[in-house]
Amino acid sequence: MTPRKILVTSALPYANGAIHLGHLVEYIQTDIWVRFQKMRGHQCWYVCADDTHGTPIMLRAEKEGITPEALIARVHGEHSRDFAGFNVQFDNYHTTHSEETRFFAEDIYKKLKEARLIKVRAIQQHYDPVKQMFLPDRYIKGECPKCGAKDQYGDSCEACGAAYAPTELKNPYSAVSGATPELRNSDHYFFRLSDQRCQDFLRLWTQTNDHVPPEAANKLQEWLGQPGENKLTDWDISRDAPYFGFEIPDEHGNRNTGKYFYVWLDAPIGYMGSFKNLCGKLGLDFDEYWNIDSQTELYHFIGKDILYFHALFWPAELEHAGYRTPTAVFPHGFLTVDGAKMSKSRGTFITAESYLTEKLNPEWLRYYFAAKLNGTMEDIDLNLADFIARVNSDLVGKYINIASRCAGFLAKLFDGKLAYGNVNALVEDALDSGKTVATSYEARDYSRALRDIMAIADRLNGEIAVAEPWNLAKDDTKRIQLHDICSRALHGFYVLSILLRPVLPALTGRVARELFGMPRDFQWSDLADTPHRVNAYQHLMQRVDQKQIDALIAANRESLAPAPEQQSQQRHAEHQADVASTAKVSHGDTPSISIDDFGKVDLRIARIANAEHVDGAEKLLKLTLDVGPLGTRQVFAGIKSAYDPATLIGRLTVMVANLAPRKMKFGMSEGMVLAASDADGQAPGLFLLSPDSGATPGMKVK
Ligand code: MSP
Ligand code: ZN
Repeated sequence: MTPRKILVTSALPYANGAIHLGHLVEYIQTDIWVRFQKMRGHQCWYVCADDTHGTPIMLRAEKEGITPEALIARVHGEHSRDFAGFNVQFDNYHTTHSEETRFFAEDIYKKLKEARLIKVRAIQQHYDPVKQMFLPDRYIKGECPKCGAKDQYGDSCEACGAAYAPTELKNPYSAVSGATPELRNSDHYFFRLSDQRCQDFLRLWTQTNDHVPPEAANKLQEWLGQPGENKLTDWDISRDAPYFGFEIPDEHGNRNTGKYFYVWLDAPIGYMGSFKNLCGKLGLDFDEYWNIDSQTELYHFIGKDILYFHALFWPAELEHAGYRTPTAVFPHGFLTVDGAKMSKSRGTFITAESYLTEKLNPEWLRYYFAAKLNGTMEDIDLNLADFIARVNSDLVGKYINIASRCAGFLAKLFDGKLAYGNVNALVEDALDSGKTVATSYEARDYSRALRDIMAIADRLNGEIAVAEPWNLAKDDTKRIQLHDICSRALHGFYVLSILLRPVLPALTGRVARELFGMPRDFQWSDLADTPHRVNAYQHLMQRVDQKQIDALIAANRESLAPAPEQQSQQRHAEHQADVASTAKVSHGDTPSISIDDFGKVDLRIARIANAEHVDGAEKLLKLTLDVGPLGTRQVFAGIKSAYDPATLIGRLTVMVANLAPRKMKFGMSEGMVLAASDADGQAPGLFLLSPDSGATPGMKVK
């Protein structure tokens, strides 16, 4: 195999805000892909940087009484710390405020100018006479031209939803100084995207060679319109002083022009800047990756909100400045928490920092996001109850459990040595699984990769349950059987750990070193090997506790006293809440809930695979539920008074699949089965629910 040469980027986060869990959807997603490529033996570079320019950063620094340079230096430290905390491992984390980025911004600008794709045109804009600056749309407020609502932003009205130009606002004022803005003319530079060459190029580029996934290609098709429609407009790439950024040089190379590159012009160029900086550190050949005839691969992971910039402006700039264009752009959806937009007042605008400070394990989140990411632009929901359930049942209950149940016997009774019956069959299986899982990782369908990985864990756990090593160990005559099942279990654990390494780098790093005594992390090619010894098992991972989630939400809930400039918005939100509560109608003595509330309960058809009495429990039966693709769950149900366990085995019922697992005296309960009863739940009135025939385990009940 000739190793591929791959350059990968994530979008550059703005240097005026903290990294939050929404951002991490992207950086974790990219990091998993990069780690996968590296494990496979490819040469893969992952670069990123802080996006440091623009008006918001300039004003934020001013408010803090520091220079923009000091602000971006501090934030660079914070961002680097947060990414490292989540095991997001860049090969380089640079800044757009760098000489490398300045060089390429000027270079690309000059080449576009030579290609006659830059033009100058005077535009009319709001100007703050007190602050003496032109105002970006978001810094102008006023009354909505449609409904008259006060304090609305320059682009749309929060009260009636109308969209308009900032010049249409009535009684506009500057959000920076409060002054009444004046309309002034100023020369701006434009990238002529409407030029026929750009249109023709983009029409071809966006619709061929899988440069973007199909759903994004459709969106781009809409923006491009039909040939001849000319829907693309020229793009304003300059801003007037005062601005924090790079000044646009004139034809003599003089940089005191008072005109600056707009932040979005130099931001993607920051990808080149960061890579150039890495080349300087490692002696790599920049041109091999960026020349027009480059044979290397270039991928940009981005959020769907910045598709326009990455799939239209950026390839058009590169193409006409004589550089290579991206191999592909991979857009993803947005993060919601418990089905709603992240919210500071609800405490669901969760910062990366708070997650780490509250001592939640970063690999829980990596696992959870991976389980939800499928390479499409669909939004991703962090359902907190489901987060707990999945981490505890899959990661701890299925994966870790294999090692924790079997490794001890090997260390204690077999001197840590593994013995295999049929090694070839085991290796063949491992390589087959490796192939399937690799295809999913490559396609960024991590959700599918993890489903396949957990199916292997399910099979192994099934074998362990049948062999009952804990019973075999009590009997000296059963040593061979014990050695066999524990060896196969640990080989399985080894395979699972290799397959999970892109998602769980820290955990699987410990498995490689501490358990299997390897001097390094796993490589994909380790699937062809078998481990021959294990060390004594050491505790690998804690379960998530509901209390930790509660503390996390509390830590992110913003105080109720709104900042003055937020008051109108807050009032608006409260008003909506009032409407919702008066609309509440109560039925009987239970308050009504919304369909969204109901949707949070994950009801599933489950087959009772096993049911047994629990020693010492008066009311409980221990049920093993087969929930199809969701795997198996152990549930303690208070139905002993009404059912003989033997009669339950094999029948179908309904379970709550996303109930947070509960530690009970007799073990973990990972869900709940549904039964009807009279008010106090006493026999004989206890009736387990059953679906009509045709339902199968795992089906959703709604
Ligand atoms: N600075 C620009 C990107 C310039 S790239 C040349 C920017 N920065 S950002 O900080 O707002 O966002 C960085 C990345 O995080 C973007 O890809 C954005 O889509 C992503 N996300 C920000 N919030 C997000 C969610 N709530 N959910 C998922 N991704 C999110 O845009
Ligand atoms: Zn309005």
